Amino acid sequence: MRVLVTGGMGFIGSETVLALMENGHEPILVDNLSNSKEDVLDKIEKISGKRPHFHKVDCCDYEGFRKVFEEEKNIEAVIHFAGLKAVGESTRKPIEYYTNNLLSTLVLLRLMKEYGVHNIIFSSSATVYGVPKRVPLVESDPVGGATNPYGETKVMIERILEDANKADPSLNVILLRYFNPIGAHPSGLLGEDPNGIPNNIMPYISQVASGKLKTLHVFGDDYPTPDGTGIRDYIHVLDLAEGHVAALNKIVENPGVVAYNLGTGKGTSVFELINAFEKATGVKVPFVVDPRRPGDVAANFANCDKAFHELHWKAKRNVEDACRDAYRFQTTGASK
Ligand code: NAD
Ligand code: UD1
Repeated sequence: MRVLVTGGMGFIGSETVLALMENGHEPILVDNLSNSKEDVLDKIEKISGKRPHFHKVDCCDYEGFRKVFEEEKNIEAVIHFAGLKAVGESTRKPIEYYTNNLLSTLVLLRLMKEYGVHNIIFSSSATVYGVPKRVPLVESDPVGGATNPYGETKVMIERILEDANKADPSLNVILLRYFNPIGAHPSGLLGEDPNGIPNNIMPYISQVASGKLKTLHVFGDDYPTPDGTGIRDYIHVLDLAEGHVAALNKIVENPGVVAYNLGTGKGTSVFELINAFEKATGVKVPFVVDPRRPGDVAANFANCDKAFHELHWKAKRNVEDACRDAYRFQTTGASK
């Protein structure tokens, strides 16, 4: 299929572009490079031997984005990754987050209607479940009550897509709710390279291990979990990328609106993650225990049975694989 990939130069988008090409699809990338670099395209070419079409366009810019639909023609599906994603920043810059994430989606939907494109896969997040009442989370659990503007944009976009489908049932929507994506491409060329001090644990651990940062701060060891640290569902970004290929196979069956959790179904604590990293890389990660981070929950992990039964997909890689790949990227591909 000819698949328009918004945000295709980013962390998850670029891996998905590779997975699409490996499976015989033709991705067309759109990105404004607000959180990615142009050389990602060279790296995609180096890994795959192919250079996909790339348009440096802001998805909020109707005229610029329309030219992409006009030039590319026959787009059969869209995977919509483009968006701002930093939770903390979203509380400081809510207007930017609501504008970018909502407007880009609205412009995209308008263009899909104008150009007769009926299939959209959306990058949603476990954050749409708010503070979980129970784990593992299933797709029928209540959505709403996200704890920050970033999360609210995901809740709102899910709602917008549902309403768009109600008004036009020929629009197929797959909502993919990612848990905690980590890891990198095994080549060491592509991975997560956040600006400044990382907020998320995996890039933080990798930067401590490589010597860029001194000590990991573990946020709380007094949670009601077996070792007292927070439990999350860490999924290798390559598994996540393959989940999008599986969703593309599903969307041609005209499923209407359907949501899937993409995780591993297995919770890992912060201490377990540190141990897995040290085992996988042989590098020690010095840490100190700090108080809990406001807004964090004790445990958050997915039930992924629905994706297994309906998409015939499940995560194949484990946390150690992801740690090894993340560290390789930190020591080779990431900015120093
Ligand atoms: P990323 O920042 O690496 O990738 C997003 C890409 O979108 C970037 O390349 C950025 O330049 C681009 N972009 C942003 N706004 C744009 C716009 N208006 N027009 C065109 N391009 C634009 O992030 P990622 O980790 O790859 O995440 C991809 C998607 O998955 C996002 O929607 C994110 O919210 C969602 N998600 C990510 C995580 C995670 O932990 N990484 C978890 C759940 C959901
Ligand atoms: C966060 C976001 C979530 C987003 C996800 C992936 C919040 C509330 N949620 O999830 O919306 O989808 O990132 O981008 O921010 N930890 C430490 N030390 C650190 C960093 C984290 O101990 O330096 C702990 C946290 O307390 C948590 C775990 O590590 O228990 C994972 O944290 P993080 O990687 O930030 O992801 P989430 O908070 O789960």
